[in-house]
Amino acid sequence: MEIMPIEKLSINFKTLEDFKSFKEYGNQELQMLDDLKGSIVENDCKHSPFYGIYYGDKLVARMSLYHTDKKFDYLFDNKRDYLLLSKLEVLPQFRERGFGKNLIGFAKSFNLPIITSPRINSGGFWNRMGFMPFTPITDMPEKLLVWYPDHLTENKIN
Ligand SMILES: CC(C)(COP(=O)(O)OP(=O)(O)OC[C@H]1O[C@@H](n2cnc3c(N)ncnc32)[C@H](O)[C@@H]1OP(=O)(O)O)[C@@H](O)C(=O)NCCC(=O)NCCS
Repeated sequence: MEIMPIEKLSINFKTLEDFKSFKEYGNQELQMLDDLKGSIVENDCKHSPFYGIYYGDKLVARMSLYHTDKKFDYLFDNKRDYLLLSKLEVLPQFRERGFGKNLIGFAKSFNLPIITSPRINSGGFWNRMGFMPFTPITDMPEKLLVWYPDHLTENKIN
């Protein structure tokens, strides 16, 4: 497995251009584009939720990781801080080299529960990463998975 550094991706036009290689291009990217065009943000690293792995100068893997404060938690019964992980994607020719696992390892290092909504066909990967089905207290349209850090495994039932 290749261990590659994980970088926080700045919100700028280059990052947006890099994102065009990835399948999931949606609201978050459009919002970023609007903010850049309106000069609301420029080269903003602090507020970017995106992390990625570069191979040379090519962005080959990325994920979005949002920290949700327990004040805004509407998923867990015992309100808690958690991370919302989305847009995990490794470019096809760079898969099965440990990049996905690397990004997940980085997310786990914050020691907070991680919630994600898996893509169809990615179940085997999430299972391998220790994620399990999660039923939130609020009805959600999508299926969710959760990972708990060790210190929370005793009371992981919501
Ligand atoms: C799912 C995805 C992120 C995995 O990334 P990756 O870099 O290829 O995965 P890794 O090489 O880090 O694999 C880590 C482990 O998971 C296993 N694995 C990877 N993809 C798998 C899959 N689809 N099913 C079962 N196991 C899988 C690997 O064999 C490896 O096992 P090991 O720990 O025994 O060596 C990548 O295939 C992808 O981008 N898919 C398309 C988008 C997607 O489905 N994203 C999921 C989030 S919605």
